[in-house]
Amino acid sequence: MVCLGNICRSPMAQGILESKIAAQGLSIQVDSAATSAHHIGESPDLRASKKTKEYNIDISNQRGRQFVKEDFDSFDRIFAMDTSNLSNILALAETEKDTSKVELILNLNFPNENRSVPDPYFGGEEGFENVYRLLDNACDILLNRITNG
Ligand code: 4NP
Repeated sequence: MVCLGNICRSPMAQGILESKIAAQGLSIQVDSAATSAHHIGESPDLRASKKTKEYNIDISNQRGRQFVKEDFDSFDRIFAMDTSNLSNILALAETEKDTSKVELILNLNFPNENRSVPDPYFGGEEGFENVYRLLDNACDILLNRITNG
């Protein structure tokens, strides 16, 4: 799960997907990262951790890190939160296989629409609820696809 800062959207996406994986007794590794270096080592934004906590998901132990090209080898699927993240990730791809792993997460909810998860950083609490709902839906669809092969 990749966004700009790795303190709002992608940590929420990681926490949501991890909780669904755990609820199904599955073992799938999930991680998140930033395209920027601004928040390396930081905890998630308090508004993000408060929002997921409302849904019994604790993301407070996550720490910001930057996406590196080795992530293409470490992960089977790479989800960008917005179109800018997508471009920045694809700029690091070295092979067609790398490129094929990357997609916009909201294309799960809204196929082919290339929608972005709105960046909630400069807005209010309601932006985090909106992000939560979008990501919860996306993660349901993703896990459904994984478990159905
Ligand atoms: P995120 O949100 O990409 O969802 O983690 C942001 C976090 C920090 C900034 C922008 C967006 N920032 O400008 O510092």
